[in-house]
Amino acid sequence: MFRFRVCEASEVGEGELKIFAVKGAAVPILVTRVDGELIAGTSMCPHEDVSLVRGCIRNGAIVCKAHGYTFDLQTGACSHDPKLRWHVYKITVTSGQVFVDLA
Ligand code: FES
Repeated sequence: MFRFRVCEASEVGEGELKIFAVKGAAVPILVTRVDGELIAGTSMCPHEDVSLVRGCIRNGAIVCKAHGYTFDLQTGACSHDPKLRWHVYKITVTSGQVFVDLA
């Protein structure tokens, strides 16, 4: 497990979806903020590899704009297909810097 710096916490506002390229990570990391809590996951939808950055947050889930599938922000579970799961990363904020743990 490796810890990578993603961004500054202040770069992500409430309800925003932002993508950051992270040196050492295979794909960009998506970061959002809901009720003040920062959440990070893979930037690509597990359905058909479409970027989630143009989606939205609704009822504790990220909604993919392509086909409307929703993924729980805490567990990554998909409400449309139980075989699909959005990868949620463990996130740490230290001195205003956001880090994620990647395998
Ligand atoms: S590509 Fe995201 S729901 Fe189909």
